[in-house]
Amino acid sequence: MIAWLALGATVAHANGVKRPTDMERGKELYERHCTSCHGPTAAGDGPAATALVHPVPDLSGTVKASDTMVNIVLYGAGFMPGFEASFERPDARRVLKYMAAAHKKGSPKTPEPEPEPEPEPE
Ligand code: HEC
Repeated sequence: MIAWLALGATVAHANGVKRPTDMERGKELYERHCTSCHGPTAAGDGPAATALVHPVPDLSGTVKASDTMVNIVLYGAGFMPGFEASFERPDARRVLKYMAAAHKKGSPKTPEPEPEPEPEPE
């Protein structure tokens, strides 16, 4: 029995099958679904944020993996879209756990891109 378990673990390892941690999964989901509006540090300055009529709030330091927030992520709230179709409740909790750990209060805003250099006059 023990031998089988050990063999299973070895095979899983050899195939590179490794379950991501909650944090890794949360980060992946955040980057895929949330940075467009919330920005890389949850400061509310993602590239899509300016296109919304409603400003995206700065969430750094405010997020908890609470049932209330899980429900907002799954079913939406106001201008925040729901992600029920993209992932399930445990993943909603993981993404919030990631935000709570990674986006501390006062996270720096996304730096402004360098302005294009002025073209040289002919
Ligand atoms: C289309 C833009 C958009 C995307 C994409 C988006 N959000 Fe939001 N989010 C918002 C806006 C706007 C609000 C503020 C809602 C309001 O006050 O109407 C918000 C609010 C929130 C809140 C705060 C709720 C509260 O009441 O404090 C959380 C948490 C949140 N979003 C998490 C996420 C997560 C996690 C993702 C990715 C899975 C995500 N959002 C993707 C726009 C977006």
